[in-house]
Amino acid sequence: MVQWKSFLKPNLARFGAPIFACTLAILAPSLAHAGDDKLTSATGVYNQFCQHCHGPAMVNPGTGSYDLRKFPVDDKARFFNSVQHGKGDMPAWGDILTPDELDLLWYYTATRAGKQPFPEEPASGDADTADTEKKSP
Ligand code: HEC
Repeated sequence: MVQWKSFLKPNLARFGAPIFACTLAILAPSLAHAGDDKLTSATGVYNQFCQHCHGPAMVNPGTGSYDLRKFPVDDKARFFNSVQHGKGDMPAWGDILTPDELDLLWYYTATRAGKQPFPEEPASGDADTADTEKKSP
């Protein structure tokens, strides 16, 4: 980022604002990683509903709730079941969260708050959340 600034400055002086605008337009999409938007939304939902018990970025404050960083990333069914219906001291979220929000929370948990790639889905009967992004004929 620092290099870009020092690179852009002398060029700005020479070529002016139009070039600068073009450079931004070209750079912006390539700077954003695929999935970043989803992670941002997922983080928002997590922070709103889950953070106060499970900790910021799932780093558990040690108050007795489950450490979400240890949740098995291959057990989406268990995640949905526990979160929708509640477990132990955790309330049920099924009536509060939309399916999209639940999906985002699973994305958040399975990527360890964006630190790991999203795991491949094992082929199962539950295809309702798959293939929203990749569409091949
Ligand atoms: C009121 C505090 C609280 C909030 C808010 C909360 N949880 Fe929990 N959560 C817990 C506790 C306590 C447990 C441990 C339950 C047990 O095993 O007895 C738990 C366990 C879990 C588990 C593990 C369930 C299993 O199968 O073992 C998952 C997954 C989970 N929470 C996800 C979430 C998500 C996602 C949210 C946000 C929608 C959330 N939690 C919000 C307290 C909370």
